Amino acid sequence: MPGTLLVVDDEQANLDSLERVFTREGYRVLLAAKGETALTLLRDEPVDVVLTDLMMPGMSGQELLRAVKAVAPEAETVLMTAYGTVEAAVSAMKDGAYDFLTKPLKRHAVLKSVAQALEKRRLVQENRQLRARLAGGTTSIVGQSPALRSTLDLIAQAAPSSATVLLLGESGTGKELFARAVHDHSGRAQAPFVPINCAAIPETILESELFGYERGAFTGAVQRKEGRFERANGGTLFLDEVGELTLPMQVKLLRVLQEGEIERLGGTGAIKVDCRVVAATNQDLTARVREGKFREDLFYRLNVIQVVLPPLRDREGDVPLLADHFVARFAAKNGKPMRGLTAAAQQALAAYTWPGNVRELENAIERAVVLSRNPEIDLSDLPEQVRAGGPNLRAGAPGGLAGQAMQALIEGRTLTVPLGTTLDEIELRVILETLRHANEDKNLAAQLLKISVRTIYRKLNREKE
Ligand SMILES: Nc1ncnc2c1ncn2[C@@H]1O[C@H](COP(=O)(O)OP(=O)(O)OP(=O)(O)O)[C@@H](O)[C@H]1O
Ligand SMILES: [Mg+2]
Repeated sequence: MPGTLLVVDDEQANLDSLERVFTREGYRVLLAAKGETALTLLRDEPVDVVLTDLMMPGMSGQELLRAVKAVAPEAETVLMTAYGTVEAAVSAMKDGAYDFLTKPLKRHAVLKSVAQALEKRRLVQENRQLRARLAGGTTSIVGQSPALRSTLDLIAQAAPSSATVLLLGESGTGKELFARAVHDHSGRAQAPFVPINCAAIPETILESELFGYERGAFTGAVQRKEGRFERANGGTLFLDEVGELTLPMQVKLLRVLQEGEIERLGGTGAIKVDCRVVAATNQDLTARVREGKFREDLFYRLNVIQVVLPPLRDREGDVPLLADHFVARFAAKNGKPMRGLTAAAQQALAAYTWPGNVRELENAIERAVVLSRNPEIDLSDLPEQVRAGGPNLRAGAPGGLAGQAMQALIEGRTLTVPLGTTLDEIELRVILETLRHANEDKNLAAQLLKISVRTIYRKLNREKE
């Protein structure tokens, strides 16, 4: 059945003929001779499309339209109007009518208009369902702000296709979370989601990680290894921190994306791979293209659907929702029953600008849950910078930190190192300490230390060796 149609007209002959036309097409048809009856029907029955006359005694079509928007906002409305009342119909369109038809009606025109209204209704509904699933799924994306909602809408639309998605946004805004959401809501959800952090893996290893190698390809290649592209076959490959790729690696990646096939190191033939690529970076890629640090052709190949994640400070009303979400999560994790936050703590969270975005909030709440001696998190359980209202780190300095703000972050914190400590050791301690103050945000720490993110990863990895 295509859907349920409610026809409203004060002339019985019109009702009869429209009923016949639409019943024959398989519609379920409801009839009302006046607006008031139509509204009663709308309250009791699910209606997809309302087809109403404009000029009727009592409630006019336009008044009915406004009432429909209030009682059944999901229903689409198509207006029928006689010549000479077209102006009223146009103003009704501004009130949200889907279409208007002039009388005398032509059968094919009215069928077409109603079918299109129905299609729109279906798309809106589908979109909403997807959004609800996105919001409630395992990935659990929390937030209600208009900025987050429009991002979710975009993700919901993009997810089912195989189009490459480029996620842009500051550190901690949820790029990885959204990358997983794209995968989870695509037809590839049952196949693997394979992330690779392009900054964390040393360049020399990155190539073999991505493409794999054959036995004997280099010293130490004792057996054949599948690359991440192959592992992601049928699924999604998540290229995190893609802005950190070196130019030679960019060339290799571009070739694979263009040809849809890879070659293992030391291999002799090309292997077809079918993976959807989602890439993320907190770098300004357009600027890097301009500076010659990122290939323009690769940028365009990745930038098919661009999704910019809003920073937390632009997501009005989301801080309390996220805070509650994290309190519940960390209370459960730590086996500590928590009621929530005191009014003072809530105010402090709302006033702070969250340069480290959701991750910083998450860390602050985890720490507070652990520290708190009461079932309610109080001001004193929150990190110093949050209590103090915090330095407005990113204000006026998009894409980079103002020197003054950097100072604010490290001000008053010192590191005492005994004489005789090796330089390597000092370097490592400074990096670890900076990371701690930057809420483990590697990008922020890199900016503070004036080194690259890649260098931070390298030094940290050396520690593990
Ligand atoms: N809307 C959200 N709802 C719930 N949790 C969120 C939301 N956004 C982010 N998070 C959580 O915040 C943390 C940081 O998110 P994520 O790692 O996806 O950020 P990112 O943008 O990849 O950061 P970076 O650029 O530093 O890598 C994660 O623990 C994630 O689960
Ligand atoms: Mg990330």
